[in-house]
Amino acid sequence: MKISLGSDHAGLALKQEIVLYLKRAGHTVLDRGTSTDASVDYPDFATLVCNDIISDEAERGILVCGTGIGMSIAANKHAGIRAALCHDTFSARATREHNDANVLCLGQRVIGAGLALDIVTVWLGAEFAGDKHLRRLEKIARLEKA
Ligand code: RB5
Repeated sequence: MKISLGSDHAGLALKQEIVLYLKRAGHTVLDRGTSTDASVDYPDFATLVCNDIISDEAERGILVCGTGIGMSIAANKHAGIRAALCHDTFSARATREHNDANVLCLGQRVIGAGLALDIVTVWLGAEFAGDKHLRRLEKIARLEKA
């Protein structure tokens, strides 16, 4: 799978671990930064990753900041993006099956790398269930045009 990743300075270390993990697992990774500890603004990186999804440059996106909250707020401002902040594997699976989430947000200051990598694995492996859930996503899409 082709996956776009982004973080701010507060999510850099976890993003780097995820990049390595995904490459070892055979995925194609687009690392959109940041790449240093210098303080940066998370919305800039959320936008880079979301643009990859919207333009079909990547199939999924992963965003990491300190809490994952800022990234999820910023990502969900982009039409067509369904970003989910998940810090447990149940939510990671459910947000693929029910919400067809195309962006996963994580907080480096909230969970450890071991759990984060499990969440990434479950999220990438789960499929959208469709059916009644599709109807609900169509209603969300209509909200973007309202
Ligand atoms: C950066 O200090 C921090 O505010 C950011 O990484 C994130 O947690 C925002 O939601």
